[in-house]
Amino acid sequence: MSELASRARKLDAEDELAHKRAEFLLDGDVYLDGNSLGALPASVPGRLDDVVRREWGELRIRSWGESGWWTAPERIGDRIAPLVGAAPGQIVVGDSTSVNVFKALVAAVRMSAGASAERDEILVDATTFPTDGYIAESAARMTGCRLRPVTPAEVPAALSDRTTAVLLNHVDYRTGRLHDLPSLTAAVHAAGAIAVWDLCHSAGALPVGLDEHGVDLAVGCTYKYLNGGPGSPAYLYVRRDLQDRFDSPLPGWNSHAEPFGMRPAYEPAPGALRGRVGTPDILSMLALESALEVWEGVTIDMVRTKSLALTDFFLECVAEYVPEGRVESLTPLRHEERGSQVSLRCEDAETVMNRLIAQGVTGDFRHPDTLRFGFTPLYVTYTDAERAARVLGELLS
Ligand SMILES: Cc1ncc(COP(=O)(O)O)c(C=O)c1O
Repeated sequence: MSELASRARKLDAEDELAHKRAEFLLDGDVYLDGNSLGALPASVPGRLDDVVRREWGELRIRSWGESGWWTAPERIGDRIAPLVGAAPGQIVVGDSTSVNVFKALVAAVRMSAGASAERDEILVDATTFPTDGYIAESAARMTGCRLRPVTPAEVPAALSDRTTAVLLNHVDYRTGRLHDLPSLTAAVHAAGAIAVWDLCHSAGALPVGLDEHGVDLAVGCTYKYLNGGPGSPAYLYVRRDLQDRFDSPLPGWNSHAEPFGMRPAYEPAPGALRGRVGTPDILSMLALESALEVWEGVTIDMVRTKSLALTDFFLECVAEYVPEGRVESLTPLRHEERGSQVSLRCEDAETVMNRLIAQGVTGDFRHPDTLRFGFTPLYVTYTDAERAARVLGELLS
């Protein structure tokens, strides 16, 4: 056994999160795609069976009240809250990330325009996941604003007294770069604008500190590091002191102060409930709720510690096994700038990834030349990291 393989075994034996892997349904393959679709928590199939057969099949419509279906968006929001550093009552779950980006950005412009009619420019992360950029463009058009794409590093210099809202990604989906949320949020506030953060690639992987850093609005998906399942609902965070000013562009009946009053005039519910729209997707939502049970006894700091150790170890194994010059890491080496994935630039990346998958190592390919490997500390082992790098090295030798 190589020195790295035996070190991996030792690190696994000392890993305080090692027991969590048994709470997922996994086979002997190496799964490094939890930054795209998290693995299946073992509790979910049984819970979904109960939801379908008993809650839907037997209780039928009574389940909206008796099984807590109606209040699931805010109840599950409160379950996610500690993972992103939010006190209860500020997160609702529902709709897709894309839809929540729209709600948050339009609401941000409405809040800020209330402060000054001169503010007419939205800054958007130029390196963003495409959906955020597309929606920002539409939101700008709808609100009569100008959209200015800038990289996160350019944001401080681009801010002005015209800036109304800034939409940023906490971790870059392509490179795995972690952006400095505290200082960028402070800069946005110093310019008098509203900060909207997309947490898709950070929630469940590293500390976010929404309350601590005074983030205004945030959105994120739940199917990556939160393991909610394919298409599981996203979430929206509205900081408590902004909730009264949150004017949703999608004021559906679920966010009405009295949804069953069936009144023609809209009156928003108090609190984060204003982020709701229509009837929640109960099957996906309750699968997510069950998936969140794996966080019992786990803190986000424990996850971050292991994530950094795993990605450090993987990079060390890649340096040892992969011939010089065949790959180049796009992911920063500095811990303060690293999310929970490693992206490697590689010639013929698509073919290489397909071969890796055929050999039991699943990551993903991002156009045009990137191999992405996501590290979910709840179930990825050091032995997985060593094996993935070794197979990659064999393929590229
Ligand atoms: C940063 C980011 N935003 C948004 C999305 C996707 O949004 P939706 O959940 O609406 O598909 C992704 C998906 O990978 C993402 O990485």
